[in-house]
Amino acid sequence: MNSPVAADDHSKKLEQIILTTMRVIIKKDQSEAGRWTASYIIEKIRDSQKAGKEKFVLGLPTGSSPLPVYRELIRSHKAGEISFSNVITFNMDEYVGLDENHTESYHYFMFENLFNHIDVPRDNINILNGNAPDLEKECADYEARIKSAGGIDLFLGGIGPDGHIAFNEPGSSLTSRTRIKTLRYDTMLANSRFFGGDVSKVPRNALTVGVGTVMDAREVLLIITGYNKARALKQVIEGGITHMWTASILQMHQKGIIVCDEPSTLELHIETVKYFRDIENQDF
Ligand code: GLP
Repeated sequence: MNSPVAADDHSKKLEQIILTTMRVIIKKDQSEAGRWTASYIIEKIRDSQKAGKEKFVLGLPTGSSPLPVYRELIRSHKAGEISFSNVITFNMDEYVGLDENHTESYHYFMFENLFNHIDVPRDNINILNGNAPDLEKECADYEARIKSAGGIDLFLGGIGPDGHIAFNEPGSSLTSRTRIKTLRYDTMLANSRFFGGDVSKVPRNALTVGVGTVMDAREVLLIITGYNKARALKQVIEGGITHMWTASILQMHQKGIIVCDEPSTLELHIETVKYFRDIENQDF
């Protein structure tokens, strides 16, 4: 299957047939994976607009994995193909104690890489405040805000090399809710590339939606690209569900999609790759 926008009927039929099967979409590289994902999101937003829904609630990640998706969403908006005027967003996580204007804060990242370039109303943007005077209250309020928005329609996510989703590091409860998390050294090390390679500059704590918060979304789409994610992708698809690879919980979701690239599939069994490719290539 190529672009989900172009293949309307086909993809709707496919969606019905494999409704409760995890979909794994394998694309050649990160930019193709990004384009497919952006088309998918656009299709969902358009569907909501055609159906006259006053809002579409979108969960969003930071990191390098979603960047090609954001670039494509911006391109499409600038080309007049999509409006985000009915979209409400909830970001996954934010560092504690980092100024919102700091170039590595997730606030800064989101405005710089997406929000400043599309027409999503500013009042519809929700990002956890890592500088709130009462962080526990901030987390509880965030959960309440998601609930009062009617829940998340589509949660987009990336994963860490250890299979963490948002900042739900290995060992996180698979039913966890939005809360404060202390980051493990490996994650700080991985993220130090954004802090001039200096791990001591990476904040120790973050606010993050929980695994349970992500799982409550009506649909969850994870973008997993690059060879450094190959081990995690194997665990998430072929391994059992375990809190040591928190993204593996996607196996329990009724509508879970993984969009990956070829380098990230290198640790999968050939049979696994063939199976998911066959499903996507079915001609109904
Ligand atoms: C951080 C974020 C995650 C993200 C991960 C991977 O830990 N909290 O939400 O998925 O980084 O980032 P990247 O896409 O840059 O590999």
